[in-house]
Amino acid sequence: MSQRAKYFREKIEAELVAIDLPANPSNLYDPMRYFLNLGGKRMRPVLALLAEELFTEPSESDIKVASAIELFHNFTLLHDDIMDVAPLRRGQQTVHEKWNENIGILSGDALMVKSYQQLAFSGAHFMEVFKRFNTTALEVCEGQQMDMDFEKKPDPATEDYLEMIRLKTAVLIGYSLWLGGKLGGASEGDLQNLYRVGITVGLGFQIMDDFLDVFGDPESFGKTPGGDILAGKKTILWMLSMDIGTADQIKKLKSIYSQTQRDSKTVDEVMEVFSALRIDQKIDELIREKFDSVGSMIKDLNGKEEAKEELRAYLQLLARRTI
Ligand code: IPE
Ligand code: IPE
Ligand code: MG
Ligand code: MG
Ligand code: MG
Repeated sequence: MSQRAKYFREKIEAELVAIDLPANPSNLYDPMRYFLNLGGKRMRPVLALLAEELFTEPSESDIKVASAIELFHNFTLLHDDIMDVAPLRRGQQTVHEKWNENIGILSGDALMVKSYQQLAFSGAHFMEVFKRFNTTALEVCEGQQMDMDFEKKPDPATEDYLEMIRLKTAVLIGYSLWLGGKLGGASEGDLQNLYRVGITVGLGFQIMDDFLDVFGDPESFGKTPGGDILAGKKTILWMLSMDIGTADQIKKLKSIYSQTQRDSKTVDEVMEVFSALRIDQKIDELIREKFDSVGSMIKDLNGKEEAKEELRAYLQLLARRTI
């Protein structure tokens, strides 16, 4: 990672540690501390700060504002793990596993409130930043509900899948880049382009997340291998299989997914079909297409060339998941 991205990540870590979380009630604040301490890439605030740096150097209060996105993201993950019945996050027990669901719900809610407190440091930009944050947050909820609804839908359309991942994942990454630009005083045109970069990268990122859920190295991915299959998620792997699979393969997948009891044998059976279809190659193409297409969008941005290069390099690392 470049020195600058590393520096921003450290600033965000320090900010998260400095956030005031009282000792009591411990069942509210301990899970929040625990979750924030699990690590994570911190890529959303880092992206915001790299975007701001295209135009100006981020101030201390801008670091606080950027950390709001990380707090919000952690809130969504905490609740997402309850919804997805996921036992592992960042290689450790999820909050609802370590404590219980009610504690997960409330400590997640409190993380969201904490994110609003950090957002309040956006000074003159507050109203605009706040308004767009709320729109984004609601979109994430819409995406998460679509994700849940998809589990029950026998044949979701690919365009609906893409809309679902745009909402649940890409809009927050779009917002991160937009926010950085806004704090840095970017023009309307640049803000729109930054948002587009975020959406495009966000789509690629979620597609890769779907892939790694099945085929990633569990150690570095930090989640249960095949967790999406166990939860009956219709991910990009499913969507592509429906497109390119033979009638027999499609029938097999549908029959496996219609079973209510799923275990590691189910995961193996589904993986076998995905592997036979060489889904990895298709996904590789899709991810490459997304990450490559942002090159020209970044080129069109105003701002310092050196900072553009930092942003490009960081996105390349993300594309290869080497962060
Ligand atoms: C996980 O996000 C949720 C998705 C949108 C796929 P990250 O992969 O950014 O998670 P952390 O914060 O680095 O753990
Ligand atoms: C992540 O979707 C989207 C949000 C948390 C908003 P996933 O359910 O795929 O994320 P992971 O795989 O649990 O990180
Ligand atoms: Mg999940
Ligand atoms: Mg989910
Ligand atoms: Mg996932």
